[in-house]
Amino acid sequence: MEQVIVNDVAPRDGLQNDPVAVSPGERAELIKRLVAAGLPAVEVAAFVSPKAVPKMAGATEVAAALDLDRADFSALVPNRKGYEMARAAGMRSVALVLSATETMNRRNINMGLDQAAAVCRETLQQARGDGLKARAYVAVAFECPYEGTVPDAEVERLAGDMFAAGAEEIIVADTIGAGNPTRAKALFGRMTAAFGAERLAAHLHDTRALALANAWQALECGVRKFDASAGGLGGCPFAPGAAGNLATEDLVSMLHQAGFQTGIDLTALLDVVSGMESLLGRPVGGRSLPWLRRRLAEDQAA
Ligand code: HMG
Ligand code: MG
Repeated sequence: MEQVIVNDVAPRDGLQNDPVAVSPGERAELIKRLVAAGLPAVEVAAFVSPKAVPKMAGATEVAAALDLDRADFSALVPNRKGYEMARAAGMRSVALVLSATETMNRRNINMGLDQAAAVCRETLQQARGDGLKARAYVAVAFECPYEGTVPDAEVERLAGDMFAAGAEEIIVADTIGAGNPTRAKALFGRMTAAFGAERLAAHLHDTRALALANAWQALECGVRKFDASAGGLGGCPFAPGAAGNLATEDLVSMLHQAGFQTGIDLTALLDVVSGMESLLGRPVGGRSLPWLRRRLAEDQAA
């Protein structure tokens, strides 16, 4: 069976904009439970300004509470300061964020597109020199909440720029979940032809309930690395209209049914989602959760 790598971003994207503040210790426990459920990769923290994103404060404490060799743990970094903090915390892998439009970069990281690209390039080169794994998001890859439709050619241009600076992987990100299967097929087809599917990952928000359909298009184009968020939580605080990420349980359920393997134990993942409901004090979960829970209860009763 073919392998797909799922990177769970719930501890970062999922919790960065949640109404409930989750402590660094609780985030570390969530990460350990995700790894115990078989997640091979987790985005564990964001080394960002606590003034900009208060819910991500304590990234160093999160890293300190983890065995950083246990899985492919990465941290989001928006600038050189964030990178230095992540490196000092012992992170082996960082993810830079470059948005495909001027306004989105300004809102998100207070830099214009050219400056953001320059900072990403310098940070990628630094990370390469330091022996860290470095990836870059190209955000608002389909549509920007401020500037509208983003041309595929611009996403390709920015990705090429980041690869040239040393990025090991580009994460094509649908920040506000505005992609559709036709556009996803075109964009992932173009990107895989230009760079090779093995150097790409997909990060899809599920605002319009199309993330799974878009993920399938990326799969058909050869992409085998996906971000997803347990419980379907997430959204960028600076992108109005951004809803949750593709739920990990929805993605994994689809992949297993379609004959791919992920190494993830869905029963254990459902336990993690239940734990998140206790933590946040409300129901969470992807579209498939009621069915998955029913099937699990039937299996246990049998
Ligand atoms: P700024 O105000 O322009 O920064 O913010 P500055 O360089 O002028 O510094 C201001 C203060 O912040 C200083 O402290 C710095 O030391 C501090 P002060 O002197 O006032 O005490 N500072 C930092 N502190 C901690 N970590 C840092 C850092 N850098 C400076 N890295 C900045 C610019 C980039 C810092 C800010 O805008 C920021 O942190 N932005 C992060 C935004 C963010 O986290 N957005 C969400 C993640 S992106 C996302 O969700 C999309 C994604 O999921 C993909 C998708 O869905 O498309 C990835
Ligand atoms: Mg996101």
